[in-house]
Amino acid sequence: MKALIDKLEDTHSLTRKEWVELISAYETPGLIEYAAERARKLTDAVFGKQIYFRGIIEYTNFCRNDCYYCGLRLSGKDTTRYRLTPQQILACAEDGYNMGYRTIVLQGGETAYYEAKGAERMVGIVRAIRERYPDVAVTLSMGEMNREAYQALFDAGADRYLLRHETATKEHYEKLHPPTMSFENRMACLRTLKEIGYQAGAGLMVGSPYQTAEHLAADMMFIADFKPHMVGIGPFQPHHDTPLASFPPGSNELTFFIVSLCRIMNPKLLIPATTALDCGHGDGRQRAILAGANVIMPNLSPEGIKQNYLLYDNKPGITQSAAENLAKLRGLVEEIGYTMVVGRGDHPDTVKEQARAA
Ligand code: 5AD
Repeated sequence: MKALIDKLEDTHSLTRKEWVELISAYETPGLIEYAAERARKLTDAVFGKQIYFRGIIEYTNFCRNDCYYCGLRLSGKDTTRYRLTPQQILACAEDGYNMGYRTIVLQGGETAYYEAKGAERMVGIVRAIRERYPDVAVTLSMGEMNREAYQALFDAGADRYLLRHETATKEHYEKLHPPTMSFENRMACLRTLKEIGYQAGAGLMVGSPYQTAEHLAADMMFIADFKPHMVGIGPFQPHHDTPLASFPPGSNELTFFIVSLCRIMNPKLLIPATTALDCGHGDGRQRAILAGANVIMPNLSPEGIKQNYLLYDNKPGITQSAAENLAKLRGLVEEIGYTMVVGRGDHPDTVKEQARAA
């Protein structure tokens, strides 16, 4: 199996059959460690011992969608709904800027409040951040919208967009989402984002219900083909108030392995060490960094709402302030010999494009 990892490093691709074989063998003694070691070498070569940090503002938990895995789903009864006003979001961005953040991530459920009329409310927020802090990158994560809204947000100054594909297999997608959502639309949105010029982030849950090695192989092939700038990879974590509540969580070990394989396949990829890795463990994000992740996303949401933005149960950090969360994660990063660097943290190829354009 190590030979397949070496082949991946040399050629940056595997056949579907090879992917299935490699992923199915993840419990082979020493294999995860071997992949992590190769991945870490490549990450260090591209990014050094530096970790990018992004502040995430969870601006609303209202959502029109009813994804079977997510705690913010429309049918969720246990969630107190909130939305931050543009003023609250901007105050939060200011706090973040003063703490050293140079990427602000605005994440929320899909809701008309921010999306109406070509997303004009969010356009205003993006424009205000862009004007006040020219050296800050703005990342959006607000789900599926039409091209006009994506374009308006890009024109207002948004740089990046996170929209996990969740799974690259249509039949699997349909087991995780209601019939009102479509695999085709999710994929079309991702293509649109890239066409417009966003740095696009795809991603998946490892160990989501009904997932097989074939599905993960399809995810790897999708990532190879679509070439997102970022890939968010976290284990599925059950949420008690969802139809998939009784499924077991995804494996952290398999998540580390997938992180490493993404890194080996594409050394320049931005890969976050995701929060879902630290539900009840504590060293998940550190181990993700050691397996090839190079981004961490501390929580920048204001006090009083964090306990209402629960995509899954046992989410860590919800009782910490933004400053405490940043300090905690900085400590974890430094403990393993890395530093968090102040800067936008763009994808390496995009930095080059921007320099050329200047
Ligand atoms: N477990 C793990 N990840 C989840 N997400 C949503 N619900 C869960 C869950 N129960 C992830 C999805 C989504 C991202 C914002 O959070 O992949 O795209």
